[in-house]
Parts: sequence; structure tokens; C-alpha cells
Amino acid sequence: MACPMGNGVCKAGAAASNGTASGSTEKGENYWTYLHLDKILSAQVLKSGAAGEVVHDEHLFIIVHQAYELWFKQIIYEVDSVRQLFMTELLVGQIEILETMTPLDFLDFRDHLSTASGFQSLQFRLLENKLGLKKECRVKTKSDYAAPYGDHPELLAQIRDSEEQPSLAQLVERWLERTPGIGSRGFNFWERFQGAVKTMLSDERKAAEEMTDPVQQKEEVEMVSRRSALFDSIFDVKVHEALRARGERRWSHRAFQGALMVSFYRMEPRFNQPYQLINLLMDIDELLIKWRNNHVQIVQRMIGSQQLGTGGSTGYQYLRATVSDRYKVFLDLFNLSTFLIPRQYVPPLSRAMQFRLSHSISLGAGEAHELLYDSSHSEGEGEDSELAAETASAPGEVEGAAASS
Ligand code: HEM
Repeated sequence: MACPMGNGVCKAGAAASNGTASGSTEKGENYWTYLHLDKILSAQVLKSGAAGEVVHDEHLFIIVHQAYELWFKQIIYEVDSVRQLFMTELLVGQIEILETMTPLDFLDFRDHLSTASGFQSLQFRLLENKLGLKKECRVKTKSDYAAPYGDHPELLAQIRDSEEQPSLAQLVERWLERTPGIGSRGFNFWERFQGAVKTMLSDERKAAEEMTDPVQQKEEVEMVSRRSALFDSIFDVKVHEALRARGERRWSHRAFQGALMVSFYRMEPRFNQPYQLINLLMDIDELLIKWRNNHVQIVQRMIGSQQLGTGGSTGYQYLRATVSDRYKVFLDLFNLSTFLIPRQYVPPLSRAMQFRLSHSISLGAGEAHELLYDSSHSEGEGEDSELAAETASAPGEVEGAAASS
């Protein structure tokens, strides 16, 4: 891009960003025009100024919101190309700068905001939808979350589109459903895993029953029964589906199996990168929850917990309800740990399976995009369909890698 330190045209940089091979820049292009600074820097219009007396902090308030909107734009761009999603980290801390403003300073210009509110941020809604936040998981408000765009068909169309297009969570779900080794005709991870859990629980029950202290014995036996019921909730597909219907689980049973298998065998070369991806997806959720939490703290500091928001919600109360698991798109990944079992019980890989997982892959940005966005492969049962899916889009598999195994 054009050299930010230059006064005029920085030819090499501008050429790279314009994609011109010759090294020449577009006629008349310079740092100012390239970045459209005339538009950006003249977009801080203080309402308090128009009303007669400029409130100093309104300028900061506008700049922080505008900076966020620019970052939202960049993140949406990255979500669309599944790269560098993790700059969200940058975003989380930025809001704290607004804490230099006192509630009284804020009050000086709050009335000028009229009904303007972050609640109307189109880009924030697009980001939530593209990640996979479902409508039914949103906290109910007086008006629908899309209501602010009701008079703008083109904006509403963007919202509807982001609801209908496959979200990142759905794409990851489909991808995990193709994890090699979960089909019933191949390694059959799920059957082996159920056997391993049965052995583990029976060992635990035996150890509990052998306890000499009757109080402790009772507690331990009860604990094993509770654990057993927990495992039943993943082994019994009907229970899993019932939890899904209640929003407590999000992904299909098969995707859940895939995620668990990747977690257990993460040390196998082909599962290294998928395991890292799983962790990064949790980071996204965690960072957004941190942002929501920071935001709600500043809101309480500025307007307390009983005032309505300028966007028409219950303000603090509404926002506090959004800092919850309902808003975690990758909730199933967080809950995987409930079902991890000690290493000595983890079913050993068959030789064939070990061989299939023995090739490491490097999941670059391009491959990650392909893996997630190539949904043309059928979900199938069994070893054959797993092998077919290996050609492009299963955890730990990229084009060409399967051919060598
Ligand atoms: C003085 C600082 C701030 C205050 C008092 C404040 C207040 C509020 C309130 C009360 C709401 C609830 C909706 C409503 O208006 O009824 C809200 C929502 C929101 N605000 Fe802020 N806000 C502040 C700073 C920011 C900043 C810097 C951003 C960055 C873009 C932001 C983005 C949002 C977003 C995206 C929502 C919708 C959240 C959701 O529905 O989950 N806010 N804000």
C-alpha cells in the first residue's frame, strides 16, 4: 500500500497494492487519495457541536465506534476467506479507551444520539450470522434484531443472505462429519470408544465399591453413575438430538464424533492441524464473549443497569444476557472436554488407521478455505466413502495427501 510516512506517492508500495506490474502508480494517486482520507477524516460530525456546545468526548466516542466498524469490516472479510480470524483479539481491548470518558461527560451528548445505537450495527450482525449465531439463540428483544434494517431492503437482504448462507460453524460441522475413522465399516472409532468408556466406568465403579468408608463409598458410586449418565447423553443419539433441539448441543452426532476423535488422536500427524483449528475456533468464541463482557461493563459504568438503551433494548440487562453460552457458536467444542477419558483407556489405533493418519499436512490459508468451503463431497458411511472424501475435505486430509497413503 502507499507509504504511510510519505508526503506524496510512494511508487513501489502503491504499485503493489494497485496490482500494477510496471511499478507506476495510477495518475494522481497518493497517500491521501488512495486511503480516501477526505471521506474518513471528515466523517466525525459532532451532534453536540451542531446543538451549540461541543462536548469534548463525543469526538472520542465517534472515533472508537468508527474504528470498530472498520475492524468489523475487516473481520467479515477474513471470515469470508477463512484467514486470520484471530485479529479479534485486537478488538477486545480497544473498548476500554472509552473508560477515560466519565458518565457525566457521556450524559452531555447522550441525548444527541437519539435512537442511534450499536444495536443497529449491520456489520456486527453480519459477523454474528456468518460465524453461525442462530436466530433462536439470540436474546429476545422488543423488536427483532433485524428490525433496524426494515426500511432498507438492500441491508435487509444482506442480513437474510447471511442467515441463509452456510455459516462457518455449519461448514466446520460438515467437515468434521467426514473425519476419517468414524465410519462404521472402517476403524469405527465410535464403537471402540464406547467399549473404552464401559471399561473405564466399570473400573471406577469397582474402585468405588471397594472403599471402606461407607459415606465416601456412596458418594463415589453416585459420581460414577452421574458420569455414566453423561456418557449416555452422547451414546444415545436420541438424547443427543433432544439436547440439540434445546440448543444445548449444536452439531450433528457425527460431527461430534469427528471432533472427539480429532481430540483424542491430535498427536497423529494428520490431526495436528485440525486440532489447532478446533482450538482457534474456540478462541473466536472466547474473544467475542470477552468483548461482550467488556462492553457490558462500560455500559453499566456509563448508564447504570436500569436505563433503556438508545436502541430500545433494556440496555445493561439485555447485554448481560448476551454474555452467555447461547452466544457461543462453537459450544460443542467447549463441551468436548466432558467426554475425554484418561490416556490408558483411549482405544489404540489399528495399524491401518495409524498409517492413514501418519502424514502431516500443512493447513495454509488456501487449504483451510478449500477444506471448509468445499462442501461438494457426500457424507457417507464406512471406509469407502471416507476414502473418497479424503481427496479434499476431511479433517487432516488435503488434495493429494490421501493418494500417498
Ligand atoms: C459509552 C459507550 C457505550 C455505551 C453506553 C453503549 C451502550 C449500548 C447499549 C445500551 C446497547 C444495547 C442496545 C440498545 O441501545 O438498546 C448497546 C449495544 C451495542 N453496542 Fe454499545 N455502547 C457503547 C460503546 C460501544 C462501542 C465502542 C461499540 C463498538 C462498535 C459498541 C457496539 C455495540 C453493539 C455491536 C451492540 C449490539 C450488541 C448486541 O445486540 O449483542 N458499543 N450499546
